[in-house]
Amino acid sequence: MMERLPAESAYRILESGPIVLVSTRGPDGRANLMTMGFHMMIQHDPPLVGAIVGPWDHSRRALSQTRECVLAVPTVDLAETVVDIGNCSGASLDKFERFGLTPMPAQTVDAPLVRECLANLECRVVDDGFVRRYDLWVLEVQRIWIDAAREERRLIHHQGDGRFSVDGETLDLGERMVKWRHLMD
Ligand SMILES: Cc1cc2nc3c(=O)[nH]c(=O)nc-3n(C[C@H](O)[C@H](O)[C@H](O)COP(=O)(O)O)c2cc1C
Repeated sequence: MMERLPAESAYRILESGPIVLVSTRGPDGRANLMTMGFHMMIQHDPPLVGAIVGPWDHSRRALSQTRECVLAVPTVDLAETVVDIGNCSGASLDKFERFGLTPMPAQTVDAPLVRECLANLECRVVDDGFVRRYDLWVLEVQRIWIDAAREERRLIHHQGDGRFSVDGETLDLGERMVKWRHLMD
């Protein structure tokens, strides 16, 4: 039996990837973090990512003024922190301090990396043509940092309303990817 869901539930089914933190540093030098579930890969090379950062986010001001950010990818041990970061505003709070996270200098952007995250992607805004209509920022990844020594590597995926799935097994079907060999490592 097929059940009907409201069309607005599409994001719960097509969730777009692991939840991430967006790290910014405003022109006043203050660093901030927000939680972001709505993002998507757009292109391999140069690597473009679409990110939804809305006017309800204090971070949006820093993003539009500096046109750069870091996408920090947390693992399951940070899940509660990730939700809390997405439920308060950096306008009145230093979230790095409040949540015990460590800002680290990036190389190509002023926004800080997050030491406790598995991966950090330094990004620049390359197209803001969709912002007015969709709050969609097109980012180009400049540099990627991975914490190779980290034991916990399971990412979390937001299913809506604060429910998450946690990465489990890895299926390696690389030998079947015959059409895409040129894109593989
Ligand atoms: C699980 C989760 C996912 C979220 N995803 C997004 C998102 O994709 N885009 C967005 O603009 N806000 C998203 N938010 C909301 C922001 O994280 C939230 O508005 C946050 O308070 C912004 O922080 P700031 O005001 O310090 O920038 C999400 C929040 C949570 C808890």
